[in-house]
Amino acid sequence: MHHDRAQLVPANAETIARGADILRRGGLVAFPTETVYGLGVHALDREAVRRLFAAKGRPATDPLIVHVASLDAAAPLLRRIPDEARRLAARFWPGPLTLVMPRSALVPDEVTAGLDTVAIRVPVHPVARALLETAAIPIAAPSANLFSRPSPTQASHVMDDLAASIDLVIDGGPTTVGIESTVLDLCASPPAILRPGAVTPDLLRDVVVSTRKPTSAEAPVGKADADAPLRSPGLLERHYSPRAPLTLYEGRDALEALARDARAAADAGQQVAVVIGDEDWMRLAEELVAVRVVQLGSSEDPAAVAARLYAVLRELDAAGIDLILVHAFVPAEGLGVAIRDRLRRAAAGRIVS
Ligand code: TXA
Ligand code: MG
Repeated sequence: MHHDRAQLVPANAETIARGADILRRGGLVAFPTETVYGLGVHALDREAVRRLFAAKGRPATDPLIVHVASLDAAAPLLRRIPDEARRLAARFWPGPLTLVMPRSALVPDEVTAGLDTVAIRVPVHPVARALLETAAIPIAAPSANLFSRPSPTQASHVMDDLAASIDLVIDGGPTTVGIESTVLDLCASPPAILRPGAVTPDLLRDVVVSTRKPTSAEAPVGKADADAPLRSPGLLERHYSPRAPLTLYEGRDALEALARDARAAADAGQQVAVVIGDEDWMRLAEELVAVRVVQLGSSEDPAAVAARLYAVLRELDAAGIDLILVHAFVPAEGLGVAIRDRLRRAAAGRIVS
């Protein structure tokens, strides 16, 4: 089944049927979801799951999300379905929310990295849904990037990273959300956000704690503030990083510090890119000579910022930039929490505040 190079095909009924067939037979198929492109594999086929880890260069200690068509379809994979899962599914599925729940013996250890929990998600993207319905199997799918590269938001990103090692890439155009799903651990008490995403703490709070008031010691989903430690195994690794070192500028004088450092690096002969908000541009226009300026969007439109973020990081790498300086211009609230989380990971500790 494996070709020298993945075939890139447009999403239609015929290619979805082909993708479903390849998945059922143990192959690797990349497909769009509303968040990022996933690299799919038959979740119950251990050998196929091992090939997937090898293709991504992903450590076996980092568990995968299993995608299904509905909560009912996940039932055989679960030891029990937590009450919160039913309420959350009714409100947010299909959509960019992943729930960590107690797993059944049916789920291979390869998928969960040996944990007794499994992460489940019901995507809303029509191509992902059609693939799940046609294949009629649970599909384990991490983001379809090489380990530690930014997640792919376009089919071309998948080809750049994985063309040599997978079977098929189904092109459904750019993804709309642009950053990975919210991961909520329902095995923690109270439920804990392991990875912030488009289903924000405020949205979750409506459902998860609607039956009782949390005490301040519990601070259930409030834990997801940008500084909270994240407990998901895969989140211990450096993630989402472009090749060029990225420095994140946060806080009150961030923009001035960024402009100063950008000028100094450009004067020293480095290829510098600054990533700023639309509003920043007005303030900086004259200061940034000999510096590549990327306007990521408006601080008032975090959804547009999230949608463009990874593509911008990949573009700057492709352009051979030496140094990326990013202004944290989106307030860390709502979707801004997830944007800040991804930028901090991309910065891997290089944060000026
Ligand atoms: O939006 C998304 O979630 C995308 C699309 C393709 O669905 N997928 C994605 O998968 O981002 P991946 O593998 O790149 O990230 C999965 C995250 C990792 O941080 C992993 O550690 C966590 O989910 N995870 C998976 N299973 C888990 C478990 N049983 N317990 C805790 N965390 C888990
Ligand atoms: Mg990933």
